[in-house]
Amino acid sequence: MSEDILNKFKKIHEEKKSTDTGKVLKIGIIGTGWIAEPHVNAYLKCPDAKIVACADLIDGKAAAFCKKMGLEDVRLYRSHKELLDNEELDAVSVCTYNCTHAECAIYALEKGVHVLLEKPMCVTLDEAVAIVRAEKASGKVLSIGFQPRFDENMKMIKKIVQNGELGDVYYIQTGGGRRRGIPTPFGTTFIQKDTGGIGALGDIGCYSLDMVLNAVGYPKPLTVSGYKSDFFGKRPSYYPKHPEYAKVFGVDDFAAAFIRLEGGIVLDFRISWAMNMDTSGDTLILGTKAGLRIPSTECWNGTVGGPMTLYHEISGKQVETVIPVIKTDFNLFDMKIRTFLDAIKEGTPSPIPSSQILYNQAIIDGINKSAELGREIEIKIPKI
Ligand SMILES: NC(=O)c1ccc[n+]([C@@H]2O[C@H](COP(=O)([O-])OP(=O)(O)OC[C@H]3O[C@@H](n4cnc5c(N)ncnc54)[C@H](O)[C@@H]3O)[C@@H](O)[C@H]2O)c1
Repeated sequence: MSEDILNKFKKIHEEKKSTDTGKVLKIGIIGTGWIAEPHVNAYLKCPDAKIVACADLIDGKAAAFCKKMGLEDVRLYRSHKELLDNEELDAVSVCTYNCTHAECAIYALEKGVHVLLEKPMCVTLDEAVAIVRAEKASGKVLSIGFQPRFDENMKMIKKIVQNGELGDVYYIQTGGGRRRGIPTPFGTTFIQKDTGGIGALGDIGCYSLDMVLNAVGYPKPLTVSGYKSDFFGKRPSYYPKHPEYAKVFGVDDFAAAFIRLEGGIVLDFRISWAMNMDTSGDTLILGTKAGLRIPSTECWNGTVGGPMTLYHEISGKQVETVIPVIKTDFNLFDMKIRTFLDAIKEGTPSPIPSSQILYNQAIIDGINKSAELGREIEIKIPKI
């Protein structure tokens, strides 16, 4: 191919990648804990966005955060309400703990502000429905923070299913395990009922569910029989440096469930922050033509743990095809922010739409309720 032709392709590629800096979007950060850092780092790489305000409930936390992140000329507030009442913003990142996701997202949408909401979407199905209703009424972009979606390996799983390589999918086993991995490096907001609301089930379970549900096109969940436990989180000896954490542990550290999905697919799910096992098993997607094994990671965080294997037949012979791990330099957090900004500027659909994540939340909520009742329940999603 001649140099001229190659240059033409290069030009088209570069034009597509350039960012329109004509309008600089004014951004607010709500909640300045751990996850706010990758959000800010990503916004700082976007010439068409400027962080103008930050809020945190804890005195001095937003100021210390801005200093650490090198953010200057940023107005500081002590709640999402104060921030949204006093600023004319284009968009916010909601980086608060799970229990305040719904109130922050709804308040922002009602103020006509686009929202990037961290995962899990919220705590209950009722909250998720209220968020989606507020989104609909506002006409604004709402994207949910599932950055593993942008990983090429995750995209490959979806391609394999959607291209029909597996035939009709009828059974999925998914989940993720941590032998010891209750997240308390920065305190207890993940493990308290009034801040985390849900434990492993929501924190990392939402990723396992998204990995497979996104691949099979997010069928509606119909029924669920769920189980949850807290045998590790409530033990003072689990936290040698902070035995007092056991007293405030108010969520699950393990959950399992059997879920029926529309289209005749059954989903066998288990997730753990802590258990006496190294893994709760690989993800398996079984179809009428082939099966796919997706290795789990040791400390589940929503990534593919190794090469995937496709189990299929060629001319009557049972064979296995190994799909190597795709390595890229992409920063998934940067992609999460960039795709959100692009959807706002271009008026395109949300990159990670609430219409899908609503089903993810409905399953989490169903597992919780079913576990509490000790029996299978029907998942009823109100009309939006
Ligand atoms: N996408 C990812 O990879 C990823 C990774 C870690 C955490 N998260 C999610 O991000 C969220 C936050 O996690 P974190 O580790 O930063 O938690 P964190 O507890 O360290 O920080 C949350 C902060 O939000 C503040 N806050 C709560 N409600 C507020 C309100 N109404 N107004 C202003 N500030 C408020 C709290 O004071 C706290 O400082 C969680 O939902 C978590 O699941 C996502």
